[in-house]
Amino acid sequence: TMNLKGRHLLTLKDFTPVEIQYLIDYAAELKAKKKSGALGSLLKGKNIVLIFEKTSTRTRCAFEVAAFDEGANITFLTNSQMGKKESVEDTANVLGRFYDGIEFRGFKQETVELLAKHSGVPVWNGLTDLYHPTQVLADMLTIQEKFGSLKGRRLVYSGDTRNNMGNSLMIGCAKLGMHFVALAPEILFPEEGLVKEMRALCETTGGSITLTSDIKTGVKDADVIYTDVWVSMGEEDQTAERIRLLLPYQVNMDMIKATGNDQVIFLHCLPAFHDLETTVSQEVNEKFGLSEMEVTDEVFRSSHSMVFDEAENRMHTIKAIMCASLVG
Ligand code: CP
Ligand code: NVA
Repeated sequence: TMNLKGRHLLTLKDFTPVEIQYLIDYAAELKAKKKSGALGSLLKGKNIVLIFEKTSTRTRCAFEVAAFDEGANITFLTNSQMGKKESVEDTANVLGRFYDGIEFRGFKQETVELLAKHSGVPVWNGLTDLYHPTQVLADMLTIQEKFGSLKGRRLVYSGDTRNNMGNSLMIGCAKLGMHFVALAPEILFPEEGLVKEMRALCETTGGSITLTSDIKTGVKDADVIYTDVWVSMGEEDQTAERIRLLLPYQVNMDMIKATGNDQVIFLHCLPAFHDLETTVSQEVNEKFGLSEMEVTDEVFRSSHSMVFDEAENRMHTIKAIMCASLVG
């Protein structure tokens, strides 16, 4: 049997295909347990700290509810001394003496790695500049729920494929023997070193990595069309350039139809820019005349869209990773 006790989740690169599949299946089990109404105590007596340098709805709430469901206590920390009056190393040393596990969301992958190195307790990456591994676990659970299995499925990510989601989806697909297509202008393709590394891995898993700017051939036979915001947190100064580059790659009904697959699903890690409801949408609308960016409202609300199942699965998969690394 699998034992992941004591393990960090900094990037899915550090996990074997069997370990990743185990976490997805464990999440499905915990989801069924919750739906049955059973109360859990797997994390009873554990203390968990959640460090957020960036805003969050899903990730924070998923960690909190998952912890509460299994009896753990949490601290939500957004204004610590870390990175201001105190080093990451010293902060890690202190928090590791109080807590059984640490979640970190912030600007630099280096920070989450330093926390892991110096805290002596499991550390989970809740999003950095480079990776968003807990998101991909939820995405994979959602795809598995729809299609029954993951190997051989084709996931097309249209948009800013060079960001944290592009990296993590490419890694997840390579690990699980899936076909990953990055559909973007060349300048926004994922970083070459990571592409090479994941292509080498695909030789053993049966997956593949395709980088293309051609929408018609790129989306053909997709099982999943995925997108993310064109402007990630902290990159707001690049809004005009991203709109210019990515407008042709917007996920709309023409793109969904061009897959030729009427079972294709639409996924988005969220938050999504698809209407004028949010303040940021209104700003972009005033400046650039756009009320939709990476996805049209029509696709977002269509029967292809599984974005809210996906969001719910954040909680079940985060519960699985916390239980796996704290209890085994
Ligand atoms: N998908 C995701 O990470 O959402 P939040 O930014 O709301 O946590
Ligand atoms: N790429 C996005 C993901 C948000 C969940 C960001 O980093 O802002």
